[in-house]
Amino acid sequence: MSENPLIDFNRPTLVGNELEYMAQAVRNGQISGDGPFTKKCHSLLEQELGVPRVLLTTSCTHALEMMAILLEIQPGDEVILPDFTFVSTINAFVLRGARPVFLDVRPDTLNLDESKLEAAITARTKAIVPVHYAGVGCEMDAILEIAGRHNIAVVEDNAHGLFGKYKGRWLGTFGVLASQSFHETKNFSSGEGGALVINDPRLVERAEIIREKGTNRSRFFRGQVDKYTWVDIGSSYLPSDILAAYLFGQLEQRDKIQAHRRNLWQTYENSLKDWAAEHEIQLPVIPEYCEQAYHLFHMLMPSLELRQKLILYLRERNIQSVFHYLPLHNSDMGRSFGGRTGDCPVTERISDQLIRLPFHNALSGSEQEQVIEAVLDFKF
Ligand SMILES: Cc1ncc(COP(=O)(O)O)c(C=O)c1O
Repeated sequence: MSENPLIDFNRPTLVGNELEYMAQAVRNGQISGDGPFTKKCHSLLEQELGVPRVLLTTSCTHALEMMAILLEIQPGDEVILPDFTFVSTINAFVLRGARPVFLDVRPDTLNLDESKLEAAITARTKAIVPVHYAGVGCEMDAILEIAGRHNIAVVEDNAHGLFGKYKGRWLGTFGVLASQSFHETKNFSSGEGGALVINDPRLVERAEIIREKGTNRSRFFRGQVDKYTWVDIGSSYLPSDILAAYLFGQLEQRDKIQAHRRNLWQTYENSLKDWAAEHEIQLPVIPEYCEQAYHLFHMLMPSLELRQKLILYLRERNIQSVFHYLPLHNSDMGRSFGGRTGDCPVTERISDQLIRLPFHNALSGSEQEQVIEAVLDFKF
């Protein structure tokens, strides 16, 4: 084992006034949801993204659950999603009785393969959920065109993509709804957290109700009704203002955070591209019309064996690296919905090959240099 200090894959980091703001939230005397810091986060995101409404949630998973309720997903409805994603992208819809339809991904961006989308649509298709993997935009023109022709809602899982753009437009502003994640591993974090971006103003009022346990409490606080009561289904999807205070401290530093991550990302790419070409390793592919969100740096190794060997080799040098996601169609749940090996060959292959290198807001230049040196030294 190496004597070098551990270079972790992810490290939660203070970047601005997070702690002061959390203390301020406590001093404000309102630490439940929708306090002053929650409102600051809402305004910042609404203004930056230019959208009618953003609501902080307790996680991206919960924002996705709210989407499923807002779209009135019923048992038997079909929801199309990329096979290569986190379980929450579909669990939220399965909770309401939906059947997942797993679509294979493009071998370049690892995003939903839009050329396979139309053939997957049936009379029961209720929603399409593109995931902007690594914060690189899906082929939204094609996806929206197909969905529009079939009158199917598009909702984006933008867990990775805050402040990324596709053809000059923010990710998370294409679908009627979009989810964001502020989990510890994301560019901007509150430990656990998320947001629902509402692009269709007709969904705002119901979203507020669902988020507040099915009550019209938001209207009550705005003085629009004189008492609040149970009006719909819902749950408790709003985070404490202490968490919103932490998140606001991070969001305020968005330019600094994104500049650091861009720099790290470009350094990885510049330093590894010749080595990658020589050894048939695929580095991330970013279409020229996408401004990525710099969420992660991944590589596709030539085989599962070499991916595992590289992870172990880096571990011996005290460098953490990880892989994700296992193909959803081949999971226990996926198989219970009829998924079989061979259904999504690209996902099955890349899921074996993918490795993620350390990438976070506190990663220093010298730590990154050690990672790069180690990778370049790897014996095949
Ligand atoms: C694509 C995607 N969607 C959803 C989630 C769930 O996010 P959260 O942990 O905020 O619920 C994740 C988590 O990493 C993710 O990668």
